[in-house]
Amino acid sequence: MERSGSTAPVAGADAVILVGGRGTRLRPLTLSAPKPMLPTAGVPFLAHVLSRIRAAGITHVVLGTSYRAEVFEEHFGDGSAFGLDISYVVEDEPLDTGGAIRNVADRLRHDDAVVFNGDILSGADLGALVATHRDAGADVTLHLQRVADPSRFGSVPTGPDGRVTAFLEKTPDPPTDQINAGCYVFRRSVIEQIPPGRRVSVERETFPGLLERGQHVHGYVDDSYWLDVGTPEAFVRGSADLVTGRAPTAALPGPPGERLVLDGATVADAAEVTGGSTVGAGARVAAGARVAGSVLFDGAVVAEGAVVERSVLGAGARVGKDAVLRGVVVGDHATVGAGCELLDGARVWPDVTLPESAIRFSSDA
Ligand code: GTP
Repeated sequence: MERSGSTAPVAGADAVILVGGRGTRLRPLTLSAPKPMLPTAGVPFLAHVLSRIRAAGITHVVLGTSYRAEVFEEHFGDGSAFGLDISYVVEDEPLDTGGAIRNVADRLRHDDAVVFNGDILSGADLGALVATHRDAGADVTLHLQRVADPSRFGSVPTGPDGRVTAFLEKTPDPPTDQINAGCYVFRRSVIEQIPPGRRVSVERETFPGLLERGQHVHGYVDDSYWLDVGTPEAFVRGSADLVTGRAPTAALPGPPGERLVLDGATVADAAEVTGGSTVGAGARVAAGARVAGSVLFDGAVVAEGAVVERSVLGAGARVGKDAVLRGVVVGDHATVGAGCELLDGARVWPDVTLPESAIRFSSDA
C-alpha cells in the first residue's frame, strides 16, 4: 500500500478534537470565546480543522469540550451543514488532554480514532498517517513534525523501524528535529486503557506509560505546513497564512489573496490592507491607514493614518488616528487613543480606553 502522499479517503476511523483548553496564552481574546472559536480568516478556527478532516474522508467527529462548551454546538450543530456528523462531550471539570480522550471513548464507532489538538493548523496527509498506523500495526501513531528549531519543544526520536524510542523534555541541543505535532491515531482499545474520570496528560503520562509497558508507539514524520496557534504571534501568522493560501484549508470564504474583507466591511481607497490581513464584518479601515498581517474582528475600526501590523483587534475595538500597533492584542471594545504607540507583546484588556497619546515607547518608529 502507498504510504506517503496518499489521497485515499480514510475509512473506519472517527475524529476526536480536543477543544476544552482555556487558551490562557491568547488572553484577552479567549475571555469571550474559546481559542478554537476565534474568528480566523473569516470563520472560527475550528472550521479550518474540520475542513481538513472532511477532505480526508472522515465524517464522524467527537468534540471534547470543557471551557465555554456550549458555543461549539451553537455554531456547528449536528455538523450536517459541514458534511459531518458531530457529537459533543462536555467535561464538568477539565480532564486535560488524555482524560479528555478517555472521556469520549463510548462515543467512538470504529477501532481507530484520529485525535487532534484543536489549535493546530496542519497540512499533514491524514490518509497517509492512518495508513502508516495500520501498516505498522501500532497501538498509537503520532504525527511528528520536523521543525527548524526543535530546542523550543520536547522532541520525539524514532528508530529505523519508525517506532518512537523516547519522549524527551525540551533541551538546548535535542538529538532530533522531530516534535509531537498534536495529532495521533489511537486504537480504541488503547484509549480504554487510560484511567477514566481524572486529569491525565497524554504527553506526560499516557505516551511515556505506553513506552514503559513496551506497547507499540509509532511515528509518522512529516514536514508539510504546521503551526500551533496558541500564542498571539502564531495566531496572527496562522490567520494570514490561511488568507494567502500558505496554510491548507477548504473553509476559506473566498479565494486566497493578500487580504480578506468580509461582508459589510469598508476599506478606504487610500488605505493599505496587506499580508493576509482579515477585515471582519462591519469593520472599517480609514484613508491612509496601513494594516498588515493582522486580524480585525467584526466591527473593529482603524482610523486615518494608523498602522496595525501583526496584531489582533477584538470585536468593536478602535484604533485612533496615527496610532501605531505592532505585535499587539486589543481586546473586544477597547480603544487605543490617537497617537498611541504599542509594541510587541502589549495587550489591551476588553473595554479599556487608552487616552490619546497616552503611551509612546519611542519617537522614531
Ligand atoms: P493555554 O492555556 O494557552 O496553554 O491553551 P490551552 O488551554 O488550549 O492548552 P494547550 O494549548 O496545551 O492544549 C492543547 C489542546 O488540548 C487544545 O486544543 C486545548 O483546547 C485542548 N485541551 C487542553 N486541556 C484540555 C482539557 O482539559 N479538556 C479538553 N477537552 N481539551 C483540552
